[in-house]
Amino acid sequence: MGNYKDVEDIRSAFEADLKSIDNIKSLDEMRVKYAGKKGVLTLALKSLGKLPADERPQAGQELNILRDEIERELEAKKIAINNLENERKELSEKIDVTLPARGRDCGAFHPVMQTMYEIAEIMTGLGYSIALGPEKEEEFYNFECLNIPAWHPARDMQDTFYFPDNIESDNGKINRTLLRTHTSPVQVRSMLKYGAPLRVVCPGKVYRRDNDPTHSPMFNQMEGLLIDKDVSFAVLKGTIGEMMNAFFGRNLKNRFRASYFPFTEPSMELDIECVECGGHDAHCRICKGTGWLEVAGMGMVHPNVIRAGGIDPEIYNGFAFGIGLDRMAMLKYNINDLRLLFDGNVSYFLSGRSNRSERRAESC
Ligand code: DAH
Repeated sequence: MGNYKDVEDIRSAFEADLKSIDNIKSLDEMRVKYAGKKGVLTLALKSLGKLPADERPQAGQELNILRDEIERELEAKKIAINNLENERKELSEKIDVTLPARGRDCGAFHPVMQTMYEIAEIMTGLGYSIALGPEKEEEFYNFECLNIPAWHPARDMQDTFYFPDNIESDNGKINRTLLRTHTSPVQVRSMLKYGAPLRVVCPGKVYRRDNDPTHSPMFNQMEGLLIDKDVSFAVLKGTIGEMMNAFFGRNLKNRFRASYFPFTEPSMELDIECVECGGHDAHCRICKGTGWLEVAGMGMVHPNVIRAGGIDPEIYNGFAFGIGLDRMAMLKYNINDLRLLFDGNVSYFLSGRSNRSERRAESC
């Protein structure tokens, strides 16, 4: 091509450099070297002045043509390098578009909360409302109103955590405050608030000074209360029996044993047929071979309690029951240590030691 020697030198140097370039970074360096402000081409254009005047136009024209060529070639090389890099990346990633998408982890309710919601749903289906009470309770509601005076031995069984502050209660007396030992105080609070007739269930946390494999200092209960006229023991038996059947999803044999609670008279406890062995395994770890599981305390509400609730026990009567929700969750989901319910480590549930729970976790 042209006869200006510098142009030919630059062109061949550029072609040689370009051949060895295989990445964008080196290409950019090359662009600076040839086409940059202080690059080879700029310097060459500046040095035109040193040429004899008749050679200058020709040399200038050739240099301009060369500059256009260099820019085109740099651009073409850039596209080639990018294409090559994309190809290399695709090959190394080996994307298999036929693979199934990765599953998403999803959250779930805690087994005790799930139990609480399920039982609440069964009971609201039977016309019960949900009533809640304070966890920091007054001694008056937690004990006195429930027919448990200060001297009563039942207080020993429900030792709890007292607060240093005393408050003036609705009865006008100065009252100690404590973490409630059961959900039963919500019975009286509900009667005072809503009057009779009344149907409520009261779920929530309760506290006692206990801590061993079968007792935790905090646990969950659900109280049930029905107040109406001429309520019979049979209604109580039918209600609680149906609730258990609905919760466990099948008809379970049950038996009612005479018992004692200060706030009910007469009182009884409900045993249901063992949900694990159905009474067929003498070595069953759940029922210890008895075939029965103790699941609830209950009875006809004591007249003193109805009176404390501001209702006339000569006109109204009713029944109450109390269920341990943690125990219900353990039975339904086959969890064999109460403390696991309050442990943040979920690996146990996924380890296969608790098969029924594991299946649930997987099906989520
Ligand atoms: N409050 C009792 C407890 O915590 C449970 C209970 C028993 C509640 C009998 C009741 C009942 O309403 O009638 O041990």
